[in-house]
Amino acid sequence: MVTDKPFILAGVMGWPVAHSRSPAIHNYWIRHYGLNGSYVLLPVQPERITDAVRGLRALGFAGCNITIPHKVAAMPLVDRIDPLAARIGAINTVVVEKDGTLAGYNTDAYGYIQSLLDAQPAWRADAGPVTVLGAGGAARAILVALAERGAKDIRLCNRSLDKAQALAAEFGAPIRAVPWEQREEALEDAALLVNTTSLGMKGQDPLDIRLERLPRHALVSDIVYVPLETPLLAAARERGHIAVDGLGMLLNQARPAFQHWFGLLPELTPELRRLVEATL
Ligand code: ATR
Repeated sequence: MVTDKPFILAGVMGWPVAHSRSPAIHNYWIRHYGLNGSYVLLPVQPERITDAVRGLRALGFAGCNITIPHKVAAMPLVDRIDPLAARIGAINTVVVEKDGTLAGYNTDAYGYIQSLLDAQPAWRADAGPVTVLGAGGAARAILVALAERGAKDIRLCNRSLDKAQALAAEFGAPIRAVPWEQREEALEDAALLVNTTSLGMKGQDPLDIRLERLPRHALVSDIVYVPLETPLLAAARERGHIAVDGLGMLLNQARPAFQHWFGLLPELTPELRRLVEATL
């Protein structure tokens, strides 16, 4: 295709990264908006992450996404870290600025909140207590997002209590660590339940929790997206809860990253969702 538009190159660094749905998402938007560019897979071994990030400018990249296992390791490799990303303690987006310096962002927090708002436009973080299951890497952006949006009471349940306590100490109020054995009590009065553990993922055990104590108006969200309908979400729907699947977060975190590199905030079309769903 002959075009006057500048060619814009972006990608995703991870290891392994072959399964990533990000190329499908970003290349859909490049086509949809008639842009000139490409979004490519960048398989980067952990010991090469410094060379890879530092090489972005020389290779003419507008930037890239950073995924597992590099989200923390890439932080010291950029010149500037957005304050929200600094609070989360991880970056998922690198932008090569016009002057060649590198800026690090985290769009997972935005993506998570937006996935809740897509499911329930009137959703508010301060509607009631929030129960978060899991205190791993994925929980960090969600905890910071919920606290920033004004959640007043966040009950953080994790199998290893010490990890929940460490996060509660790091992020401070309104997060409280709760022992894993008390996860059903922690559903009492909650307005939102979110699973950030890997339980329920294809090949893993389902999450072992009964929802009887959860008020019917509570939203139930799962960041797992393979399968799209986890046993948790199926059980929630059965009880009449609004269930929010993990694909919403994946799609929404991509939007501000795309905007950084390509200059426009892309829309989530039903066609894009269908396209990505077909790969799950
Ligand atoms: P991620 O970056 O995807 O969050 P992670 O950092 O390995 O991955 O975290 C996985 C989360 O799932 C942790 O909260 C983990 O609990 P521990 O901190 O106790 O390891 C949780 N998890 C994994 N398997 C679990 C299981 N069988 N029962 C309960 N929690 C589990």
